[in-house]
Amino acid sequence: MRVLGIESSCDETGVAIYDTERGLLAHRLFSQIAMHAEYGGVVPELASRDHIRRVLPLLREVLADCGLNLNDLDGVAYTSGPGLIGALMTGAAIARSLAWGLGIPAVGVHHMEGHLLAPMLEETPPELPFVALLVSGGHTLLVDVPQIGEYRILGESVDDAAGEAFDKTAKLLGLAYPGGPLLAKLAERGRPGIYRFPRPMVDRPGCDFSFSGLKTFSLTTWQNSGQTEQDKADIALAFEEAVVDTLFIKCRRALEQAGRRRLVVAGGVGANRRLRARLAELNAAVYFPRLAFCTDNGAMIAYAGAIRLQAGASEAAVIQARPRWPLTELLPPA
Ligand code: KG4
Ligand code: ZN
Repeated sequence: MRVLGIESSCDETGVAIYDTERGLLAHRLFSQIAMHAEYGGVVPELASRDHIRRVLPLLREVLADCGLNLNDLDGVAYTSGPGLIGALMTGAAIARSLAWGLGIPAVGVHHMEGHLLAPMLEETPPELPFVALLVSGGHTLLVDVPQIGEYRILGESVDDAAGEAFDKTAKLLGLAYPGGPLLAKLAERGRPGIYRFPRPMVDRPGCDFSFSGLKTFSLTTWQNSGQTEQDKADIALAFEEAVVDTLFIKCRRALEQAGRRRLVVAGGVGANRRLRARLAELNAAVYFPRLAFCTDNGAMIAYAGAIRLQAGASEAAVIQARPRWPLTELLPPA
């Protein structure tokens, strides 16, 4: 079964084709980052309009990449939430209309399920069950996954998401949007041991996170420093170490609590090198998607949708999106 995947929940348009027998056939991405950078964050209306411009050209490209045409598709998957309502509606409208016109089924995919299943696209995919750490710009979740579609939340952020904390801290240090990768780059020049930031909530039981305090801690440290480029790099490093260490401690606890030996890491912050290196120290097998599939992409949506379509999922041909959508409301595909 060949499934077209469309991702348009935020500031990246991703289109991909996944074949349930042959694997991923093609994927393309257009990032709107340069457009939003001018405003220091995502402008929802601009995002929606740009998705409209990008989806069909990207679709033509992925079809050409794998020598297929529209009639070779057997199903369409699109991100139906969570995300920005206008951006989601763009993908939903295009996906549903294509499926209707081609007489094939379409299925709405949960964006976080897409992230969570992204490591399945790699050469050595994780076996189930596993614990998943989802760290993106909008979510920080630790989830026990006994089977695909059954998601038990072990912990989540009570305030800022990990990526959001990276972005906000980067912004107050004067870095461009989105600051996460730039802050990580800056931290490479930081000197270890100059500052030590707290590891929020590690003394409390459970696997919840809180990252907003670290942002404030960074700000006051910066204000009380000499405000040189070296101070900036030292603060970036101390901040990154604190986030990474906190994620490490909570992952270890979540694995113990759920009695699992496999950890899947997904979402944009999963691209962070320090985090990848630190999690390798866990007494568990750790699975990451390739760097390009840590951040938003169409391949993970095509994959998550293909599993549901293959299991016979059918939905009414209604164009709708769910900007808010708890992961725990999903059911297994069968
Ligand atoms: O999963 P994603 O592409 O979008 C959402 O669904 O939110 O994640 C984007 C987030 C941003 O906050 C970005 O700053 C962060 O992931 N990010 C990073 C790195 N690469 C991306 N944060 C830290 N280190 C990185 N290398
Ligand atoms: Zn995402």
